[in-house]
Amino acid sequence: MTTPTAAVRARALALAPDELPAYLYDLPALRAHAAAVRAALPERVELYYAAKANPEPEILVALRPYVDGYEVSSGGELAHVGETVPGRPLAFGGPGKTPAEIVAALDLGVERFHVESEHELHLLAHLAALRAPDARISVLPRFNLPLSAGTLEGSSLAMGGRPTPFGFDPDQADTAVRLLTDGTYPNLELLGVHAHLASGLDAPEQLAVADSVVTWALALAGRHRVPLPEVNIGGGMNVDYARPGSRYDWAAYGKGLGVLTDAHPGLRLRIEPGRALTAYCGWYATEVLDVKHSRGEEFAVVRGGTHHLRTPAAKSHDQPCAVLPVDAWPHPWPRPVARQDTVTLAGQLCTPRTCCPGPFPHRGSGRATGWPSPWPGRTPGTSRTTTS
Ligand SMILES: Cc1ncc(COP(=O)(O)O)c(C=O)c1O
Repeated sequence: MTTPTAAVRARALALAPDELPAYLYDLPALRAHAAAVRAALPERVELYYAAKANPEPEILVALRPYVDGYEVSSGGELAHVGETVPGRPLAFGGPGKTPAEIVAALDLGVERFHVESEHELHLLAHLAALRAPDARISVLPRFNLPLSAGTLEGSSLAMGGRPTPFGFDPDQADTAVRLLTDGTYPNLELLGVHAHLASGLDAPEQLAVADSVVTWALALAGRHRVPLPEVNIGGGMNVDYARPGSRYDWAAYGKGLGVLTDAHPGLRLRIEPGRALTAYCGWYATEVLDVKHSRGEEFAVVRGGTHHLRTPAAKSHDQPCAVLPVDAWPHPWPRPVARQDTVTLAGQLCTPRTCCPGPFPHRGSGRATGWPSPWPGRTPGTSRTTTS
């Protein structure tokens, strides 16, 4: 169980049935959280928001005073974020960037390219020479780094230290650095190293990853005798869906990053969290349409479903959820009710995958809310509403 903020609770109960399901966002709560995150970080750590976590325009705008920029990972995100928060620094990452997306990024004056492969490096150089011949384009190759045994064990989603489509392997690092520093591509500049190795790590695990990445990056720069002003250690700060009351320890993380930046005075560190910035301010509100009893179990059928809330079904994890009881019952026949302590929430799709893994603690009937999927996007059939 988790408790929606008072503003979200009031709005969820005030919405008409045909306005549900809806994503509800508590923007004052988001601003307060983002300000606390920013305050916990040392000055020399830049904070970018990974827009893929939730690119709703109001969220991007609410975060603007607290973040140094935004990480985008597709042409669509690039255009959307560029339009929503114009003039704010952007870093363009993600594998499989198309020529059209790279050209759009060059035209928009993207501040940083996180380059994912040697092919992408050649492509970027080729397009930059055509499109922005007088510019120096800042590049951070992304590396899929080895980490000491056990470092990624706590991760819910590890991209690093194993075969992945993300970034260069370490044995390709010398080639990448050479291409960026030996004059082959004079309008590309090696600004630093990028590594997003896992999601779902707690602060001590994240600090161990940060330390490994910085040590590795500085050794690479030392070997090539090139400056390396920036290291981006990615996002992946844990959002604990099983224990929604517990929060990522930003204070401990900020303190640890302070030790790291003190040890490397010439280095700018950057992080790019997504979910851990915005998950706690967002809710998916829906209405319980029916309560069914089947072979000893109970199912609450709600408006919408996991096509609006993908992560719990896709990753088979429990989703924090709360029931807001509604007393009114307008029909002459008996109201369907849950008798057991737990029910499974199911949507309207004709597939068993529309069930949120659960079951959820539940009594009675009413409205249900839960954190929205970290990747909700805009989904037809849902409305969006914010408290401001
Ligand atoms: C490159 C990159 N940076 C940042 C993030 C944000 O991760 P999270 O939402 O776990 O903080 C992701 C998510 O997959 C990512 O791929």
